[in-house]
Amino acid sequence: MAKQLKINGDVFVPMISERKIKTRIRELARTISKAHRGTVPVFIGILNGSFIFFADLIREITIECEVDFLKLSSYGDAKISSGNVHLLKDLNCQVEGRDIIIVEDIVDSGLSMQYIHDLITRQNPASFKVVTLLYKPESVKTNVQLDYVGFTIPPDFVIGYGLDYAQRERNLKSIYKLKA
Ligand code: IMP
Ligand code: MG
Repeated sequence: MAKQLKINGDVFVPMISERKIKTRIRELARTISKAHRGTVPVFIGILNGSFIFFADLIREITIECEVDFLKLSSYGDAKISSGNVHLLKDLNCQVEGRDIIIVEDIVDSGLSMQYIHDLITRQNPASFKVVTLLYKPESVKTNVQLDYVGFTIPPDFVIGYGLDYAQRERNLKSIYKLKA
């Protein structure tokens, strides 16, 4: 893990190591597999940010499951949410009667998760659960329930492990935060 990164004049410092992420994902997968034993849930990854977390989490899941993806509008190139959420790619699966588990990279304002919650629950799933790798409780403006949280973090801007800065840095193996 590099000590710090300089990107477009901004300095980012290490926050969560590759090893810590890996350990936490194993724990989350164990808890989720146990809680959903006997069902065949559909894991829904929210693109783009969750793609790495999704791929790592799903390989640690030990029960039968299906996968699908939703793509929502992003921050654009800014470091703060526009607050406008649009659907860029809908699901292919049928939601009605299924056990749905949403997989997100991060819950910041919570507006995206509120949108996802409303979109999915309108379609009458058997159950609706949320797993997010990161959660910024001090930034959240909605009250959608988060069932499984990887790490609770301060309201810093973070990058790496799927999370972008102006679409770049998603391929970093660990998570960095913008230096205050
Ligand atoms: P929301 O504000 O909770 O709606 O978050 C919307 C989306 O913005 C998340 O799913 C992430 O993909 C992205 N996002 C939120 N916070 C950060 C951050 O600190 N770094 C990079 N992307 C973020
Ligand atoms: Mg996201």
